[in-house]
Amino acid sequence: MLRVAIDGPGGTGKSTIAKAIADRFGIQYIDTGAMYRAIALKTIMCDVNQDDEVSISKMLDNTKIDFDNNKAMLDGEDVSDKIRTNEISMRASHVSRYSCVRRKVDNVSKYLASTRNVVMEGRDIGTVVIPDAEIKIFMTAKAEIRARRRVEQLLLAGKEAEYNQVLKEINDRDYLDSNRAINPLRQSEDAVYLDTSNMSVEENIDAVADIITNRTGYQSIKEKR
Ligand code: DC
Repeated sequence: MLRVAIDGPGGTGKSTIAKAIADRFGIQYIDTGAMYRAIALKTIMCDVNQDDEVSISKMLDNTKIDFDNNKAMLDGEDVSDKIRTNEISMRASHVSRYSCVRRKVDNVSKYLASTRNVVMEGRDIGTVVIPDAEIKIFMTAKAEIRARRRVEQLLLAGKEAEYNQVLKEINDRDYLDSNRAINPLRQSEDAVYLDTSNMSVEENIDAVADIITNRTGYQSIKEKR
């Protein structure tokens, strides 16, 4: 089996890299953050307070989440676009501290990782979801660099972006994700540490692909672009 776990703070480019790796090695890409985001979206839709763990737990009794064909599915609906807002980013970080929420996403993630070759990205993949993954990578970049990349992305998409505000949101989310009581973001002891602050996207993809090939013998099925 080839299971690649990529963990790291938000805005590091994990999704871009994980998608490219899935493409090169012909394996399934799974974005666990998208499932936390889908749950966050549902709390807004159902008018449930993000600090009300009991109501969130009740809401989850009637909630189906999945990650299928690169799409985040909430109760059978594709919510991939709706979950990409700043409000959802912060709310996902808040609700992901509850055990009922983590259990819900963990169950789906563990099932997906047990049935196929995957590259799965999140905060606790190497530590909790697939502790025996063949490859574990902890990807990070300086907060200032992540903020600058994010501002460039937003401006390119024709959206407004203010550097200091983006940096503050990145730091706030880093703090929440790293300091929650249950399964916080941390590097697994056996993970390869990759600081991408000074890497281009192509260099980053190559670095991860080389780690996979050198450690497992798996070859990419596609030529580099
Ligand atoms: O990777 P992302 O930005 O889409 O994740 C959104 C939030 O979900 C993140 O701030 C924390 C939470 N999350 C988590 O707790 N564990 C994961 N494995 C993935 C995401």
